Amino acid sequence: MADTDGNSDLFGTALFDHYMGTRSEPLYQCDGPQRQTHPIEAFYFEPFASESDRGSWLCQQISGPLLDIGAGVGRHALYFQSQYETTAIDPSSKLVETMTDRGVSDARIGGLFGLTGQFDTEQFQSAIVIGTQLGLVRSMAGLTAFLSDLATITAENATAIIDSYDPTDHRTSELLGYRSDAEHGVASRAFWFEYTDKSDPVLLFRLFSPDRIREAAAGTPWMVAAIQRSVESAYYRIALEKASSELPRRERISTVVGCQNHEEQQCASNCECPTNIEHRCHAHFNHQPARNEWAKDAPGPPDKLTNTE
Ligand SMILES: C[S@@+](CC[C@H](N)C(=O)[O-])C[C@H]1O[C@@H](n2cnc3c(N)ncnc32)[C@H](O)[C@@H]1O
Repeated sequence: MADTDGNSDLFGTALFDHYMGTRSEPLYQCDGPQRQTHPIEAFYFEPFASESDRGSWLCQQISGPLLDIGAGVGRHALYFQSQYETTAIDPSSKLVETMTDRGVSDARIGGLFGLTGQFDTEQFQSAIVIGTQLGLVRSMAGLTAFLSDLATITAENATAIIDSYDPTDHRTSELLGYRSDAEHGVASRAFWFEYTDKSDPVLLFRLFSPDRIREAAAGTPWMVAAIQRSVESAYYRIALEKASSELPRRERISTVVGCQNHEEQQCASNCECPTNIEHRCHAHFNHQPARNEWAKDAPGPPDKLTNTE
């Protein structure tokens, strides 16, 4: 997907070319004989919709200074930098160049790994990792190590938003590149990008269920504070908070309508989503209010309602 050492970066190159208006060929996501066109404009260049169910949920969870990890072309950073000091990092030099040109004021090369060498202790109040790149940590141990590093560079009462597809949801198996795993609550996705007759190496993303993320976080200062699930796909987001010595609170669980890649808004009528999951979304889902539910077995009072309507 991205590389800082001069190796191929077809994902970043295609998005850069798209931004420059010079892209004449599709970017493909591939697994064996399967090949899907990756909808660059819809997935990365449509502006963040802060008023949407998913957008307003995100806005409620975070504050600044904010670190956007794997920021792409700056969809979120462009919005949040008007409210908070925002730093956007991505390993792709093409994407950092694109972000800077698009007006992201602090876009830098960086990624999930080596955060403590790049940033000061307790530098950020919030961090977001949106786009399932979290799966590049590859294992439960890798996830715990990443969360520990993230804890070091964030403040005492920090929040973080991470996302994945839930392997315990049968719809995850419909994803391109899906690989099941004997271990409960984890699976993988393996695919590569093709662009202008070139192929990048295979990318391996680990997928975690919310329970496994809760388990990985248990060895770190983080606890799961809220979960937002998608109604029509296995995609979900988790809000982490630094665990405090106070009594544990209920996790806030909510659902939101909107296909997983048009994350911030309902699908447009001319949506060209490539998979059945997204087609179900654009063909059959009109906007509906999101629901709020409480985790049935979680202790503590419902001290905050998640407003996703
Ligand atoms: C699906 S895109 C999401 C982009 C953006 N967050 C958004 O929501 O539009 C995944 C991003 O992760 C970046 N990425 C790849 N490897 C990474 C790594 N090791 N650490 C952080 N980000 C990485 C890619 O370059 C890409 O920009």
